[in-house]
Amino acid sequence: MSEGTKMSWNEGYVSEIEYTFGFYRELSPIWIDFATLLRGLRHDYNSHNFTYCELACGQGLTTAILAACYPQAQFYATDYNPQHIVTARGLVEGAGLTNVQFYDDSFKQFLHRDLPQFDFICLHGIYSWISVDNRRAIVSFIKEKLKPGGAVYVSYNCMPGWGAAAPMQYLLRWQSKRSPGNIMQKMNSALDLVSKMIELNAPYFVQNPILKSRYERYSKQDRLYLIHEYLNEHWQALYFEQVAAEMNDAKLSFVASASILDQIDNVTIAPNLMPLYNEVTNPVEKEQMKDFLTNAQFRRDLFYRGVGKLSGGQHLQQLQQQRFTLIVNPKEVKYEHTFTAGQAKLQENIYQPIVQILQDSVLTFGELQNQLTGMTPQNLFQAIVIFTGLGYFHPVLPPEGYQERKAITDRFNRFVIEQSPHSAQLSFLASPVLGNGIQVNRVEQMFMLAMSYQKSPVDFAWQILASQNQKMIVEGKTLETPEENVAHLKKVWEEFRSSRLPLLQRLGVL
Ligand SMILES: C[S@@+](CC[C@H](N)C(=O)[O-])C[C@H]1O[C@@H](n2cnc3c(N)ncnc32)[C@H](O)[C@@H]1O
Repeated sequence: MSEGTKMSWNEGYVSEIEYTFGFYRELSPIWIDFATLLRGLRHDYNSHNFTYCELACGQGLTTAILAACYPQAQFYATDYNPQHIVTARGLVEGAGLTNVQFYDDSFKQFLHRDLPQFDFICLHGIYSWISVDNRRAIVSFIKEKLKPGGAVYVSYNCMPGWGAAAPMQYLLRWQSKRSPGNIMQKMNSALDLVSKMIELNAPYFVQNPILKSRYERYSKQDRLYLIHEYLNEHWQALYFEQVAAEMNDAKLSFVASASILDQIDNVTIAPNLMPLYNEVTNPVEKEQMKDFLTNAQFRRDLFYRGVGKLSGGQHLQQLQQQRFTLIVNPKEVKYEHTFTAGQAKLQENIYQPIVQILQDSVLTFGELQNQLTGMTPQNLFQAIVIFTGLGYFHPVLPPEGYQERKAITDRFNRFVIEQSPHSAQLSFLASPVLGNGIQVNRVEQMFMLAMSYQKSPVDFAWQILASQNQKMIVEGKTLETPEENVAHLKKVWEEFRSSRLPLLQRLGVL
């Protein structure tokens, strides 16, 4: 039977191989609400006792971390790959979470399940990888299950950024279908063919020179990710207006990008293109224009089924009450960045004082304003938003309910770090301060575990790695001898003890 006629539960989506364990900050309620607030709008819901749904949750790490961070809310998630759901349920059981349900339903089946109405419906990395029929099923689900005032997060590959590379996806899938072996071998054969075509100056690659660097990026990426990204039958990059029209069927309107840097025009649109952008006034057309002016290839959109409006005064008041903190080591903060609009040197005299204050405190925008009297509110606001978009700052949840959140995230994080001796898969922990996940790698998790056992962190980590025949890799070079490994682990521990540990403590992760 040909693939086109095969009736299978996977409906053309790759199911032979499991997906990676991703976590995406943009799916968290605090992030969605902040991105919405920046537009002068308000997500109208009970911020403790809400309902949240993730469609195509993969291994379930995002939903599980969020369920730990928001213990009074109820979480529901589905992914039709039963293997993913077995893993997700294992995580929930191991961590003792009681406010989350995982199902192995397809989108169509999930529509018929007895579920509450949701304040949030989120879907990451699925909408442009499935058939039109399945996109419709998602829209029907949203239509039926989203509350008035509810938010939808949807991410997808978009045009025009995929214009040159879309045939390369076709080529990868085409070659993989023709190749023998398992799906990993098929993927490797497809990548080999692309590499040969580039080497032999095949016109498609010569005339689209951008593809070479894209291929080089692919060849370094996790094969599991590549397989899910490129080998799906229904892969299709979408135009923003097309998605907006589909969402309109569920009475949704576009409100904001959850990639908040994209909300700041002067870091997104190059100065010479700004007049073209400014000519467009209709919000949906403006967003479509932005994609053309920036050659966008991936979008993270927030749509609402009716959204709370704020007056100018209310908007200012809510922004002023929003708390922030620094979530990286100040040493890691860079003041030069390449934005979509081009390279920019940020004014250190504006950014650095904010970093200094937020490195050991949580302050509202209003409190920062009171401390930084020489700074205009506009400069302060822009600096906070840009540094939040860059991942240096993060909004902070209100103090109410902190102890309850911490009790649950502690249990969740304990379970995750207990897995670190056996696996590197779970590389995010839950922060009750941020209401979001934070990346903590396997070695750092092993250090945390050793500390809880009152053992030497370096010896503990090295014994585990050595017993599994694993070695540290530094700048692409494997450290061969035990002495080299232990010496490197000592350095890593020192760095962890002096800067990461205090940060993780401040974020309530420890
Ligand atoms: C690229 S993965 C993304 C997973 C997760 N959202 C993430 O970003 O880590 C897409 C997921 O969608 C699931 N999926 C594909 N088609 C589906 C359908 N019709 N119903 C439910 N899940 C589906 C797959 O099993 C896969 O886990």
